[in-house]
Amino acid sequence: MEVIVKKDYTEISKLAAKKIADVIKSKSKPVIGLATGSTPLGTYKELVNLHKDEGLDWSKVITFNLDEYVGIDPSHDQSYYYFMRENLFKSVNIKKENIHVPNGIAKDISAFCKWYEDEIIKNGGIDVQLLGIGGNGHIAFNEPGSSLGSRTRVKTLDEQTRKDNARFFKSMDEVPKYAVTMGIGTIMDARELILLANKETKADAIAKTVEGPVTAMVPATIVQMHPKATIIIDKPAAGKLSREYPEEPRIFNIK
Ligand code: GLP
Repeated sequence: MEVIVKKDYTEISKLAAKKIADVIKSKSKPVIGLATGSTPLGTYKELVNLHKDEGLDWSKVITFNLDEYVGIDPSHDQSYYYFMRENLFKSVNIKKENIHVPNGIAKDISAFCKWYEDEIIKNGGIDVQLLGIGGNGHIAFNEPGSSLGSRTRVKTLDEQTRKDNARFFKSMDEVPKYAVTMGIGTIMDARELILLANKETKADAIAKTVEGPVTAMVPATIVQMHPKATIIIDKPAAGKLSREYPEEPRIFNIK
């Protein structure tokens, strides 16, 4: 696991976008795992710029999003589908049929979850998965206590997570209680992980994730077990780490 501490949010976003763009450029059929939340917004902005200014081509890109609220229609302005469309998809040349966001209004959600897992495999697996982190250490909507081997399924949201996300809804009553989420096992199957965090509010979760023991009570700690994971954070999010971490990725020039 590589930890990179950048000076600010713009630098985090640029590095994450560059890593994703490198994967898109190097594969004939890149499969990218995407995340929602405020943290990856800057990364999506950079990716849109790379498309507009440098012609980063999304025509062959296949995407799988981590999660979606149960009971929220894709056209709802708080659905994760809507978020992705507004912040990325509508500004790049991705094909609609290549976009996958969990369906929170599927009649048979269990069947949908199985289909989603199968679809990831059918497309050759995820090349790189982008992740944010919840204040309680959740990844996607795998709340504390989630099985470290879990697959795509419905999860009950923690009260803290509902409170954190309440700012986006008119009232607390409107905040969904459940979400469909890729499991921790699903996320760990991606060939590469990039976990982003900024702001002091994430410092506790990041300290546990990077330097704490692996535990289902802090789901993000599982990233320590991944063969190719990069944690990219800003100085405030790194505020509770006990060791020093570099500002630049390691570069090996092995010929
Ligand atoms: C939600 C999402 C997570 C995200 C988290 C943090 O719970 N399901 O994928 O990492 O929020 O959000 P933010 O980036 O806004 O802090």
